Amino acid sequence: MSKEKLIAGLDIGTSRIRVLIVGQKSEDEALEPVFQDEEVSVGIRNGTVINPERVSEIIQSLFYKAYQETGQKINSVYANYNGSHLFSVQSHGLVSVSRANQIISEEDIKRVLDAAQAISLPSKNREIFDHYPKEFIVDTEKGIKNPKGLQGIRLEVDILALGGFSSYLRNTKKAVLDSGLEASDLVISPIAAARAVLTESQKESGVALLDIGAGISSLAVYEEGSLIHFAVIPMASKNITGDLAIALKTRLDIAERIKIEQGACIFRGKDKKQEIETEDGEPLVFSDKLLVKVISARLLDIFGEAEKELEKISKEKSLPAGIVLTGAGSKLPKIVRLAKDKFNLPVIIGKPKGILGVSEDPGMATVCGLALLGSDAERAKRTGGSDILKNISSFLKKGFKIFIP
Ligand SMILES: Nc1ncnc2c1ncn2[C@@H]1O[C@H](COP(=O)(O)OP(=O)(O)OP(=O)(O)O)[C@@H](O)[C@H]1O
Ligand SMILES: [Mg+2]
Repeated sequence: MSKEKLIAGLDIGTSRIRVLIVGQKSEDEALEPVFQDEEVSVGIRNGTVINPERVSEIIQSLFYKAYQETGQKINSVYANYNGSHLFSVQSHGLVSVSRANQIISEEDIKRVLDAAQAISLPSKNREIFDHYPKEFIVDTEKGIKNPKGLQGIRLEVDILALGGFSSYLRNTKKAVLDSGLEASDLVISPIAAARAVLTESQKESGVALLDIGAGISSLAVYEEGSLIHFAVIPMASKNITGDLAIALKTRLDIAERIKIEQGACIFRGKDKKQEIETEDGEPLVFSDKLLVKVISARLLDIFGEAEKELEKISKEKSLPAGIVLTGAGSKLPKIVRLAKDKFNLPVIIGKPKGILGVSEDPGMATVCGLALLGSDAERAKRTGGSDILKNISSFLKKGFKIFIP
């Protein structure tokens, strides 16, 4: 695998910065990893890059290792925006169909998408960086995915726009660019994770992906194949570690170890005392029941916030494909049971698929999704096609080139 075009996913997370570089021997063969590594994050608080210089040093070190291992220089990456400053807003566009015969053209679709992108934000510090069309409406006919060629007088579109605080978005771009890399694209973490863990049929029926990371959890809801809602929940697995440190009166690193080695979300049977050795020589004794109580309380808070977001779009009872939990924070035993009881919906763990030989670890979902989105984008470039709806994301992004102003 030396001459093929390599595609790099870069997940800038609160606890880990992960790189996955994939290649493809030929068009019909599976994507295979050529390099995969991660380093402990520095300079990221709850998903937000607060110190781009430190983050850039880590990215450089990872890509230097990649160069040493593969002998190929990577120039461009598919990376993620993350953090509780991110938000979504609904927007609507409306135009009159321009042709005398009232047949909707690509030009009409471009104009209505342009109209929907005129969004006024309450603060100058915020900006929109991405748009996802939900449905087109032709006269009174709703739920149309591709209006080209249909006949009508009025063409409308509903879109979901994604935005964030400009300075934090700039920090992410700076961390990537200062590493000597270009950003081919930057997408929010749950959209990347969704690409790796959700099937088209789940997205068609209605599904919510909940990515439980270290610093933040984020929710992406899909229906009829489109992204219909995105929200950030400013609590995640690091909060569980903090809660355990307080409840067990121990250091954060010990609490983290206990969570990973012995954590669980449901308690049944008789309470037992557990004992673990700590480096300061004093064994720490705690009860199984208390451990589960602390972990489940925080997870139920996170699930409660996610449920409120589903209520905002009236989807709390109507997602046939249910909830898909992902992110390394979803690796706690019995989390599926706890989530099913809370949401009253089907719940599964979202494991990344689509890249041969990469572990199906939910902590790898975002980086795998970034590499897969990169591969999709490269394929779309190769196959070209003038159909606007096939290239809708690149059209919508055309005004949002990734650069530092
Ligand atoms: N086996 C495990 N059991 C329970 N929790 C785990 C396990 N492995 C990792 N975690 C927790 O998952 C969190 C890391 O998740 P992940 O790697 O998805 O986050 P991140 O992408 O670095 O952060 P974020 O997405 O919030 O920016 C850590 O808090 C860690 O303690
Ligand atoms: Mg993450």
